[in-house]
Amino acid sequence: MLTVAIPKGGLLKDSIRLLQSVGLDFSAFLEAGNRQLQITDPSNTAKALLVRNSDVPVYVEYGQAQLGIVGYDVLREKAANVAQLVDLGFGPCRLSVAVKASSPYRSPLELPLHGRVASKFVHCAREYFQSLDLPVEIIPLAGSVELGPITGMSEAIVDLVATGNTLRENGLIEIDVLFQSTARLIAHPLSYRLDTYSLHDYVKQIRETVSQVAAR
Ligand code: PRP
Repeated sequence: MLTVAIPKGGLLKDSIRLLQSVGLDFSAFLEAGNRQLQITDPSNTAKALLVRNSDVPVYVEYGQAQLGIVGYDVLREKAANVAQLVDLGFGPCRLSVAVKASSPYRSPLELPLHGRVASKFVHCAREYFQSLDLPVEIIPLAGSVELGPITGMSEAIVDLVATGNTLRENGLIEIDVLFQSTARLIAHPLSYRLDTYSLHDYVKQIRETVSQVAAR
């Protein structure tokens, strides 16, 4: 049976709405009190796995899910071996460098040599500072990264910015953008090549839905 890995959190509602538009109903994941992590669509044609954003590429790479929905930010960080098929347009955000507004830094190149940068996006951050030829120490964190500069543990952070509210409310400002991100449809490469479970039909319908939404 076709299996789709869908992300918990901010991308969940839009992911479920998109799959509904192609006839797959996984809205049970949105029901209050639902603790199920795997459900089958009522028409019994597909299954969905509810996983953390960063685990979506893992389930797809290992073939437990033939399709997945995940942020481009996670795809960049995980560098998983999956096929990137469609930019779904929802979940816009950017990966940025930010510092305390009260700090003297207004560009990444002004950061001190061997300064500290806290991030959940260790690989992206490392690659970015290497591209600037600026040696820094990356401090891996799992969340609330903004506390790095607030507590004085780091001079800067590399973190996702969507509305910008978290930065503002914590007295931080962006000084550079690494890249923009939106949700992507990904597939297990071999399943996609072999058109397992008529994957191509679903991908085609999803592409059509996305271009209709974009045209509105
Ligand atoms: C993300 C991100 C920022 C915040 C940005 O954190 O790491 O902290 O959202 O959103 P905003 O620009 O709309 O305020 P998340 O909510 O995933 O929590 P976390 O820090 O615990 O990972």
